[in-house]
Amino acid sequence: MAKPKPSFMDTIVSLCKRRGFVFPASEIYGGIGNTYDYGPLGVELLRRVKDAWWSRTVTARTDVVGLDSAIIQNPQTWITSGHVGGFSDPLIDNKTSKQRYRADHLIEGKIAKYEKKGRSEQAAALQEKLNAALGDNEAMGALIAEAGIKCPISGTDDWTEVRQFNLMFKTYIGALQSEDNIAYLRPETAQGIFLNFKNVLESSRQKPPFGIAQIGKSFRNEITPGNFVFRTREFEQAEMEFFVPPAEEQQWYDYWRKARFDWYTELGIREEKLRMREHEASELAHYSTATADIEYEYPFGWGELEGIACRTDFDLKRHSEASGTDLVFFDPQTKEHYTPYVIEPAGGINRMALTFLIDAYEEEELEKDTRVVLRFHPEIAPITCAVFPLVKKDGMPEKAREIEALLGKARMSTFYDEKAAIGRRYRRQDEIGTPFCVTVDGDTLSDDVVTVRHRDSMQQEKVKVSELLTYLIESMSGWSRQ
Ligand code: GAP
Repeated sequence: MAKPKPSFMDTIVSLCKRRGFVFPASEIYGGIGNTYDYGPLGVELLRRVKDAWWSRTVTARTDVVGLDSAIIQNPQTWITSGHVGGFSDPLIDNKTSKQRYRADHLIEGKIAKYEKKGRSEQAAALQEKLNAALGDNEAMGALIAEAGIKCPISGTDDWTEVRQFNLMFKTYIGALQSEDNIAYLRPETAQGIFLNFKNVLESSRQKPPFGIAQIGKSFRNEITPGNFVFRTREFEQAEMEFFVPPAEEQQWYDYWRKARFDWYTELGIREEKLRMREHEASELAHYSTATADIEYEYPFGWGELEGIACRTDFDLKRHSEASGTDLVFFDPQTKEHYTPYVIEPAGGINRMALTFLIDAYEEEELEKDTRVVLRFHPEIAPITCAVFPLVKKDGMPEKAREIEALLGKARMSTFYDEKAAIGRRYRRQDEIGTPFCVTVDGDTLSDDVVTVRHRDSMQQEKVKVSELLTYLIESMSGWSRQ
């Protein structure tokens, strides 16, 4: 019997493992559910995503500065921010299978089933009821019963009540494991920024409107991690708190929603796979008055890629009150004292990397076979240029190594390969998204001309070695998705 075709996500997961993007963590010990390590290509991909974010958000701007704050802060931080009291998910257990689920995810699963079957009216009605039930455990439990949702494992509907479960990881500082020594792993990088608002203001000569950006790990004890690296318990965030005069809140909310959406399309994500979705009032986080999600159409449905939130003066005011440190801004020109409002674009680096991967993946039918190609923007591709000697003799490997060193000196990431037929080497690079392959042949030794092969068009061009770097840089900046 023929093997069933793997799902698109299975194909992505298997490519990631085979080519060294992502491995299951602790694999030799049987893994540790939904936790992943990034291999040689994965770590390059993450770096490219972080660099692309940082260069546009911080380096290229005069009104945003960076920060790298500690993961473990004074635990009062999380009491003040509302995370100890409010950062929780609604949980429900099935008594037969003993499986635990996020109640809202169970209902979303039912909505997705309706949509798949074309029953859009039922889907919309259930979505409306879900929105109304968010934040109300009793209503959520009643909705699960009303919608006839059964446990995917046991097939029964003997559910417990819905309860809230706090998502923060707890640990202890020092030798004593007592209530007095509790500390939390940060569930968002944002709070470290608020705690440093005064330090940055006093040391950087910034004044509102200005932003503080940070990339770093965050931790959430997610009940239902899954969809590969989409939702994990340990992940990296890229967040920016943009502090503005209160009257300018709407203007900057509009600005950052557009700027963040454009960042994805400029880096090659297909626009038709993206959408901006404003949150319903019932969906808003405890600190937010308005939030929009940039969503991507994943193989498992539309999902949040990044959120842009109006956080008002909630965090600065709360930390001012709780710490006794004044976190207001004094404008020497207007002589006005005020607590700035905050617009926060917040995305996940791992989720961005997964999105770039999924969006780039194509199987292209050629005359004789199928070519797998990742059409990464050259700025995102883990390897920018592969260098090959046509054959492994007659001085070609040495010349190819020389060219590799030349590109490496210009900080271009390269890969040298002299194994297998040239066509096969091209295909191996297509599969990991390398935009350019440079081949040294017998003539290169006398005329100093190499062949550049383009990943997307598969076209080849002759280029002088002395002009190679400029040629590649120009090709990178002129790139657009075909
Ligand atoms: N400071 C606001 C904040 O943390 P969020 O919507 O909870 O907002 C921001 O998180 C982004 O972080 C999400 O849009 C997503 O990209 C990423 N993220 C959140 N939880 C995640 C998880 N469990 N695994 C991977 N990425 C996650």
